[in-house]
Amino acid sequence: MEPIYEGKAKRLFETDNPNELRMEFKNDATAFDGKKKASFDDKGRLNAAISNLIYGMLEERGVPTHFVKALSDTEVIVKKVDILMIEVIIRNVAAGSFCRRTGTDEGWEFSEPIVEFSIKDDELGDPLINEAYIRELKLATADEVAHLKKAALEVNDILIEFFQKAGLRLVDFKLEFGRLAEDPSVIVLADEISPDGCRLWDLKTGEKMDKDRFRRDLGGVMESYAEVLKRATHAIENRD
Ligand code: C5P
Repeated sequence: MEPIYEGKAKRLFETDNPNELRMEFKNDATAFDGKKKASFDDKGRLNAAISNLIYGMLEERGVPTHFVKALSDTEVIVKKVDILMIEVIIRNVAAGSFCRRTGTDEGWEFSEPIVEFSIKDDELGDPLINEAYIRELKLATADEVAHLKKAALEVNDILIEFFQKAGLRLVDFKLEFGRLAEDPSVIVLADEISPDGCRLWDLKTGEKMDKDRFRRDLGGVMESYAEVLKRATHAIENRD
């Protein structure tokens, strides 16, 4: 069966249900808009497990997502959506492109979370944009943008607390949203939440436990992802 979409880390397939898709997590890893590539045994399974655990928790907390159910170790059934061509980035602590852009050191905590938007386009290098760009490019309506910001901050609150219980500091992360195929007036959280798209630092040691290990050739990439899964599972099992 041919995928209807193949991205850098996932493939999407049709199912018998016109409103649902099968999403498969791949072992491929990319960084720097696809310029750096590698493959890691078990990455698909680890990211699927971490992401499913988080989406299940978010659904329980009332956040609408595309998640329907896990199908296998690396496959998930998701609601079909029309993905918004906007990446929503939430930053709690200075790191990555924020530091490059502002010439500051990483690691200082913001007084409030920063929500920023970029165009989902590797060829352009996912450029940073603002709400006026979104309006003029017709990437989303003003109401949708207001919804994205509110939803992203809600997810941030839930995830900060969750990862803290897992002994991890949520530095920053990327979210993607989509309009439901079944009802385009409804926007849900889509894509995945895993160490591929989040910066997670060990609360005690500050050690990087995310894709920066791959980006910066720090080694132990899958060991860190496995540790994130172990701690996240423990945090879920021991929640109040
Ligand atoms: O690179 P930058 O500092 O802008 O990334 C912010 C956060 O968003 C990081 O956690 C990174 O992993 C994530 N991100 C992503 N996909 C992108 C851009 C950023 O997952 N295309």
